[in-house]
Amino acid sequence: MPRKGFSDFYDYDDGFDDDDAYDYDYDAEEHVEAVTEPKEKTSQQRVWRCAICTYDNDESMFACDICGVLRKPHVSNQTTNKTTEPFKFDSPSPDDLVSNGLMPSKMGTRGGSSMRLKEQVDSADEQKSLKNRGGGGSKTSSKGRHINIEDDNCSKDGAGDIKSSKAVTKSKQNISEASSSAKTMEMSESLTGSMDELSLTGKAENSSNVRPRRSISDSKHKPEEWMFPDKESDTLRQLNLAIVGHVDSGKSTLSGRLLHLLGRISQKQMHKYEKEAKLQGKGSFAYAWALDESAEERERGITMTVAVAYFDTNKHHVVLLDSPGHKDFVPNMIAGATQADAAILVIDASGGAFEAGFDNMKGQTREHARVLRGFGVDQVVVAVNKMDVVGYSKDRFDLIKQQVGTFLHSCRFKASSLIWVPLSAMENQNLIAAPSDSRLSSWYRGPSLLDAIDSLKSPDRDVTKPLLMPICDVVRSSLQGQVSACGKLEAGAVRPGSKILVMPSGDVGTARSLERDSRACTVARAGDNVAITLQGIDANQVIAGGVLCHPDFPVPVATRLELTILVLEGASPILIGSQLEFHVHHAKEAATVVRLVSLLDPKTGEVMKKSPRCLTAKQSAVLEVCLQGAVCVETFSESRALGRVFLRSLGRTVAMGKVTRIIHE
Ligand code: GTP
Ligand code: MG
Repeated sequence: MPRKGFSDFYDYDDGFDDDDAYDYDYDAEEHVEAVTEPKEKTSQQRVWRCAICTYDNDESMFACDICGVLRKPHVSNQTTNKTTEPFKFDSPSPDDLVSNGLMPSKMGTRGGSSMRLKEQVDSADEQKSLKNRGGGGSKTSSKGRHINIEDDNCSKDGAGDIKSSKAVTKSKQNISEASSSAKTMEMSESLTGSMDELSLTGKAENSSNVRPRRSISDSKHKPEEWMFPDKESDTLRQLNLAIVGHVDSGKSTLSGRLLHLLGRISQKQMHKYEKEAKLQGKGSFAYAWALDESAEERERGITMTVAVAYFDTNKHHVVLLDSPGHKDFVPNMIAGATQADAAILVIDASGGAFEAGFDNMKGQTREHARVLRGFGVDQVVVAVNKMDVVGYSKDRFDLIKQQVGTFLHSCRFKASSLIWVPLSAMENQNLIAAPSDSRLSSWYRGPSLLDAIDSLKSPDRDVTKPLLMPICDVVRSSLQGQVSACGKLEAGAVRPGSKILVMPSGDVGTARSLERDSRACTVARAGDNVAITLQGIDANQVIAGGVLCHPDFPVPVATRLELTILVLEGASPILIGSQLEFHVHHAKEAATVVRLVSLLDPKTGEVMKKSPRCLTAKQSAVLEVCLQGAVCVETFSESRALGRVFLRSLGRTVAMGKVTRIIHE
């Protein structure tokens, strides 16, 4: 897998005081001026400076590469005037509501904007293969940072290069986003649960696409023989496993420990982490350092972006997505959740910590669980960690199980899809083998964490459908001008030589080579997390947020959509004219609400009221949005991965939903 360095990232703690905070109540035109003022970087390359973090972004970027703030956050009047219906409101006026909802906000803007990829190869063989493959060659990510593959241990030089040679292949990904408050996604449990049950109202009688994609169901797409897995040789199935939970619950420590126990991190490497962590006075974070690689993450002792690691169980090739728990990085956690087939929800059992993490307003446990459910994840291993701190108390475990269980049930997780595992990542109890500590083994008879993971079901992959891969990140190589698109295949299959349509540009290229788990592979199928190196294509046309597809089945590209959404608890009212951030797979755009079509009964999906004036928390509704720029999108009924959306405002997720219609303009 390709990788990126980020030692030269903006340090969010430095120079981000209140005065610099993002003011959402600014004058739109002024802001656009501020962020678009082009500045010569080199004679060829033009850049625009982000008004928030002052990072100089390439002209082609529509959102800041570091903090993710949209370059032109508001949809231009030109677009909206055409479509926005005149609106009258008695009291309070929409302006009152909007300005109440859009108070100037101080935001700790964080995170990068695309997948950050790093690679570590442990064995001598892998080191050699890396040297042969990339030795000294540099790769440039979409951010323009250079990555050298060299025989060293993950050290970074001043230019942000990463040199690696360790066992665990890792990627870092995030959705650029503003910070999120603790109230993000404060939707009611019942609302979350009902997401999947909302009927797809208003479906497509006059639905049409900007670029029509042949309906997959009607299509004549005939999968070829190579696309199907060879049942004899491919005995292991890929499982994308998100690891989520409240900040500091021990997700990265657990991941690091698991990888070490499974031989994915060598003893030598582990010693190095321990030594370095101790030197920085953070000895207890040694295992977490395997996942938290950036200087910022290590210094602050928190995960900021999703780290990706790999290991095998008896049944699965597991792609582990270690997500950040801190409330400021909820969008990055969401980016991981979009790719997950199943999840480990880590709970900190220690006194007070469980209560804080489970708190409705301040904790992230509930929020993460809701996000998972909202994105269709239904199998969860609940890892009750730090049991050593509570003396492996059965009573404590039972209390947590009862409280979290009730909550998960209200989110419509089935009891049969939940596996409860008490453990201690720090003391290596119940991770890959039955507990050795008698305080735990005396009462716990269930599976170890590894057995629990092994028992998860890998969802059926649709290899028979045409290829569909949302692009999570793009890596450009200075060698031969190569470009690689990284992401998870949502449908279909690809192999070297396959023709690939790159959307939204519409360019057709060829898959030159594929990499999965940092190794070259001959075929990638739905569910696989891969990097596809493309040839015969303008590298600039391959962008994160775009989609790779089958040349005969272009994914629709649209600027106007009908959505069916649930407004989350704590969200400001949504009105015609409301400006929101629209997120779908790895794409995001500024959006304006142009029509409120109907209010729905959240349980039955039936229309309760047509043309409501305003949507408030916990309401379910159909609305139309107009996007500032076109995005690759599908209706939910056609592709779940490309049809699930979330709307954010002021660093909070205000609604989740699905695309029910793509509207031709
Ligand atoms: P974020 O990614 O920032 O949300 O944190 P995290 O959930 O990844 O937690 P991390 O792994 O960084 O661990 C936080 C702290 O908890 C570290 O000091 C760990 O040493 C400690 N910790 C993790 N697991 C255990 C455990 O089983 N027992 C004890 N006593 N401490 C643990
Ligand atoms: Mg972490």
